[in-house]
Amino acid sequence: MAIERTLAIIKPDAVGRGLAGEILSRIHAAKFQIAAIRSLRLTKAEAEGFYAVHRERPFFGELTDFMSSGKAVVMVLDAEGAIAKWRDTMGATDPAKAAPGTIRRELGTSIQYNCTHGSDAPQTAAFEIGYFFAGRDLV
Ligand code: CMP
Repeated sequence: MAIERTLAIIKPDAVGRGLAGEILSRIHAAKFQIAAIRSLRLTKAEAEGFYAVHRERPFFGELTDFMSSGKAVVMVLDAEGAIAKWRDTMGATDPAKAAPGTIRRELGTSIQYNCTHGSDAPQTAAFEIGYFFAGRDLV
């Protein structure tokens, strides 16, 4: 399988609860390479742009309020099959439905406060990586 890149976010619920280090440890344990990383607070408009694909969903307002409510850690992860691998490491969107041992199952508290985000396909990953990182940020 080829080395692939995905965009991962440690969301404001996890950063606010002091879980960024725990989640980074899990990323290292799963043998991802961190190609780029930074900490930032999204504006509401930036959160709306990032999640534009969900604009028509009933939870869009809540989601973008939450994502702009505090600091997040955004990063680019490299691994063989990184997109699926990171989604497996996170677990299902709803922590109640996520598999045992996954980040969302063990650390998430609701479908909204689910600690992490990951790209869902190569095209999405390209958009999401470009949303936060320019070419020279990526080693
Ligand atoms: P994420 O992987 O970041 O992609 C979109 C986010 O929307 C998702 O994680 C959840 O945090 C959020 N989300 C999805 N479904 C719902 C829902 N039914 N209610 C509230 N938030 C949701």
